[in-house]
Amino acid sequence: MQATIEVSGLRKRFGRTPALDGMSFTVQPGQVTGFVGPNGAGKSTTMRVILGLDAAEEGYALVGGRPYASLRTPLRHIGALLDAAALQPSRSARNHLLWLAHSQGLGVRRVDEVLEQVGLTSAARRKAGGFSLGMRQRLGIAAALLGDPPVLMLDEPVNGLDPEGIVWIRGFLRSLAAEGRAVLVSSHLMSELQDAADHLVVVGRGRVITDTSVADLIAATSNGRVTLRTTAGEPAMSALAHAGAIVTVTGRDTLLVSGLPGERVVALLNANAVPFSEVSAHRATLEEAYLELTRDAVEFRGETR
Ligand SMILES: Nc1ncnc2c1ncn2[C@@H]1O[C@H](COP(=O)(O)OP(=O)(O)OP(=O)(O)O)[C@@H](O)[C@H]1O
Ligand SMILES: [Mg+2]
Repeated sequence: MQATIEVSGLRKRFGRTPALDGMSFTVQPGQVTGFVGPNGAGKSTTMRVILGLDAAEEGYALVGGRPYASLRTPLRHIGALLDAAALQPSRSARNHLLWLAHSQGLGVRRVDEVLEQVGLTSAARRKAGGFSLGMRQRLGIAAALLGDPPVLMLDEPVNGLDPEGIVWIRGFLRSLAAEGRAVLVSSHLMSELQDAADHLVVVGRGRVITDTSVADLIAATSNGRVTLRTTAGEPAMSALAHAGAIVTVTGRDTLLVSGLPGERVVALLNANAVPFSEVSAHRATLEEAYLELTRDAVEFRGETR
């Protein structure tokens, strides 16, 4: 069984709105792939097409090399969490999972295992309808894990989790990938993905904008930029801008300088008697890299709405 998701040339419209416009990418085993993009970019629609819940007008989606509809016990091939609210509110968490497990020929022991894995053992007999958003997310993740699938796909699983839950899911995603599974996870929290994801598929307007390793993307965004820490922001900006640098304010006493090497920044500050406490090679955050990549996609969306 291949641990992969392959999406190729997906196109889909809702009325006149193109939701998918040539969406193509592959999710590799042994990695956490972050699936990111502005609201309405087509992430959830892509996931729904992968699971056969929405039909694409063109293109195809394969799980482990096969269309989802051809899988006889799908939970053993791919575990997915798309909508944490999709459960029968009067059933207990455990019954919800038992019912799912039964449909896939899985036993009760597996249900208790996944409840333990997501930290819901003590709430297992409570009605799922009374669960908080974070508890529902955990239950949804438990359901995704039931069939011990080689492929996991989670749509914004961090949404609603408390800080402890966020730390938990980060380690959890890493461990799933370390076991050789392919993990596709959408999120709007770049700070989370910076530590959790190996690879990033950035989408906008229904197609892929960038498909890259997180390390390469951060290196490319950091490249040639300098972080400057100074309490004399105004004179520093003026001295550097005068020499042709582009300077932006990034914090209370930090500036980001592009267009000049670090040594030149230091020389200019000294020549102009501007005090500073740090000049260092810039290390971009994933959020910064993401915002640069998606700026155009967001602008386009703003115009069309
Ligand atoms: N059931 C539907 N009916 C009509 N339009 C839809 C439907 N589902 C999605 N769309 C449209 O398809 C486009 C893509 O939506 P989608 O939910 O896939 O985006 P997303 O990337 O998941 O966004 P978000 O980050 O907000 O979750 C949007 O323009 C959305 O309005
Ligand atoms: Mg979505």
